[in-house]
Amino acid sequence: RWTLDLDTPGWQAAPEADAVCAAIVAGDLVAVPTETVYGLAADATNGAACAKIFEAKGRPQFNPLISHVPSLETALAHGVFNDQALALAEAFWPGPLTMVVPKRKTSPICDLATAGLDTVALRVPDGPVMRFLAEKSGRPLAAPSANRSGKISPTRAEDVVADLESALSFVIDAGPCAVGIESTIVGLLDDRPRLLRPGGIAREEIESVLGLVLLSADPAMRPDAPAAPGMLSSHYAPNARMILAADAATPEDGLLSFGPTPLPGAEHARAEFNLSPTGNLREAAANLFHAMRFLDSTGAKAIRVQIIPNFGLGEAINDRLQRAAAPRD
Ligand code: TXA
Ligand code: MG
Repeated sequence: RWTLDLDTPGWQAAPEADAVCAAIVAGDLVAVPTETVYGLAADATNGAACAKIFEAKGRPQFNPLISHVPSLETALAHGVFNDQALALAEAFWPGPLTMVVPKRKTSPICDLATAGLDTVALRVPDGPVMRFLAEKSGRPLAAPSANRSGKISPTRAEDVVADLESALSFVIDAGPCAVGIESTIVGLLDDRPRLLRPGGIAREEIESVLGLVLLSADPAMRPDAPAAPGMLSSHYAPNARMILAADAATPEDGLLSFGPTPLPGAEHARAEFNLSPTGNLREAAANLFHAMRFLDSTGAKAIRVQIIPNFGLGEAINDRLQRAAAPRD
């Protein structure tokens, strides 16, 4: 475990940095913080290393992975960026935006990382650790969220250790993630950009840069697989059942509240976590996964969730909550 304080200059020169890069180049898995969630990272050009990601997560299918790169310049070596993609890179990179673009034939990113598609998902994260490791190792880093498939994404190093410790050669601990919810994924495969997954950058911000309305993912494009497979069915699931848009709290259930107005009975809930007492959606997104883990740890059979507005980051928050509430198979 490498615990680092990003506010202390010179963390890049720590001996652990060399050891982590050596592990990546050797094809091992490392847990790396980003501004969104902790990622389970491996060399995206190494098929055997990427296979370890699927094995460690217990992913049922080989869903394509996001490759993290240190800059737009490096991204251009892997994908073809149209003017819209360039405008989004300019506006939001580094940051919580992933773009799915046509893959360059010369890109060394392996087929397992792209699930054999002729497209590639690329992100320049704002979290400096992932960017630094991609730069220093000279490899694009494939990284899904560092949790077992279908479970709650990790926003702290302890969450990663609880889920995946045995699979990892390093866990890098840089404290809680500032954004707390995964990146927004936009598909830029033709002149009609699509929102493939709501996330850390609000749809409205992207639409205002592009000057158009984002289309939704087109399921007809790939009937056998959704545009962003993480988008399907039960996901982010706690052990407790999720009850959305609850109109009252109960003494048996956990309560996930939002905003200044308590639900009836809130003071008697088994346990309560308010995502943002002032009703700030950014703060709520940052707290969401930690709050779900906390309420789940109380052993409650159900978690009741107060209504959360569906604009701005609320769209991503509600997406994750609906997935956590989806029927399990
Ligand atoms: O914030 C994030 O995006 C985090 C951090 C670690 O960067 N990563 C993350 O990765 O959430 P993951 O694997 O949990 O989600 C990746 C999503 C999946 O839903 C996958 O289907 C989609 O990206 N994806 C990747 N490549 C794609 C492609 N070529 N076409 C369509 N969807 C793709
Ligand atoms: Mg995930």
